[in-house]
Amino acid sequence: RKSSSVTVRGKAYGTHPAWFNVPPNVLDATSRQLHLQRGHPIYITRQIIESHFPRPTFKYYNEYSPVVSAHQNFDSLGFPANHPGRALTDTYYINETTLLRTHTSAHQADTFRADESDGYLVSADVYRRDEIDRSHYPVFHQMEGARSWDRSKVPNGDVAAAVRRDLETLPRHNVKVEDPNPPFHDERNPLQEGHHSAAEAEAIGEHLKRSLENMVVDIFSRAKAAALKDDPNFVDEPLQMRWVEAYFPFTSPSWELEVYYAGDWLEVLGCGVVKQDLYTNAGVPSQLGWAFGIGIDRIAMLLFKIPDIRLFWSRDQRFLSQFDGVSDRLDTLKRFVPFSKYPPCPKDVSFWLRPATTTSSAGGNAKGAFHENDVMEVVRSIAGDVVEDVKLIDEFTHPKTGRRSVAYRIVYRSLERTLTNEEANAFHDGVRRALVEELGVELR
Ligand code: PHE
Repeated sequence: RKSSSVTVRGKAYGTHPAWFNVPPNVLDATSRQLHLQRGHPIYITRQIIESHFPRPTFKYYNEYSPVVSAHQNFDSLGFPANHPGRALTDTYYINETTLLRTHTSAHQADTFRADESDGYLVSADVYRRDEIDRSHYPVFHQMEGARSWDRSKVPNGDVAAAVRRDLETLPRHNVKVEDPNPPFHDERNPLQEGHHSAAEAEAIGEHLKRSLENMVVDIFSRAKAAALKDDPNFVDEPLQMRWVEAYFPFTSPSWELEVYYAGDWLEVLGCGVVKQDLYTNAGVPSQLGWAFGIGIDRIAMLLFKIPDIRLFWSRDQRFLSQFDGVSDRLDTLKRFVPFSKYPPCPKDVSFWLRPATTTSSAGGNAKGAFHENDVMEVVRSIAGDVVEDVKLIDEFTHPKTGRRSVAYRIVYRSLERTLTNEEANAFHDGVRRALVEELGVELR
């Protein structure tokens, strides 16, 4: 499985055995580019978000390769050397310096450098080792947006005034938004003193917030219209949004936008005022502005009421054909009608972890101690898209030996057909064997 080179989007990359951790199913996904597949719900959702950030103010970049350097993905954005997101347990590496981007922010530096317009959008597939359930898949899609103002090009170098003039041209919505926190926080989100004034950062923050609120209001009103088409008696709770203080190494101040949906506050995006180092390092030190990153898949799930993120990867016409009628005017959205629901096959596995002393390690970031994401990868590598959910259900440390034992419940369920019990057993036996072979655990 570990060859000495892999090809992604037509380009070959040398792999390193101590680093390469990209399984075949994830590698295959690099060729799909669902955000560019006409009529796909990810494509439709991208277009709806893009419509809020129109040309020529914004320029669109939708074809960046998912293979980036650790510098692009982490260093250029100010992630510290020991940031947990860099670990092999969290990120797919090709070799020590080359990886599959974990977020579209990997392209910030290059796009700030290359882009001549006032803003840009980057839509792309991103890759993360993570848990398995109906809203997590190792590949998903993000859209990055940024809007910059050039101090040397606005009247009197007064960026605050220029941003406020632009703010006046944005539509106003009438949805209730909570925003209880002060704009700055001394430790996590200080004013970038020496680079811009509080008035500038505040104006940029307001422009950012209004732009994103408008987009989210539109998404939810389209989702409501689609729901009403389905069920004329549909009653919705009124939309509520709130801004929450957040931390990102490359923005200050930073926020997340949460939306109250189906009884829960749902995080929909991260954003902030871009750290000046990014502009300076990109050779455009006179610019300042905002950036945001939004997960397209989760928004598409809300918009079309798609119950499981795996459906996006389906090649089944019963899924794909449901989105055929959507015109380029994006005014005919219909909710997804699930095909018949196939029965789940839950199966448990419990095992002793390999004692920590026998782990080999080739440096701090190498494959070694047990990590739950490795279980997820093993299950996905055997059962592919037939696995719906993997959950830790029990944990136990032996009082004398100190050895740790864990139990997981794996739910096997195909979205496309009924699994026979024999098939589910065959997957589960394969998973048990692979856990032993790949992770060195001892089954109980
Ligand atoms: N890249 C961040 C993430 O994936 C989101 C983000 C983008 C935050 C741009 C701030 C600015 O979580």
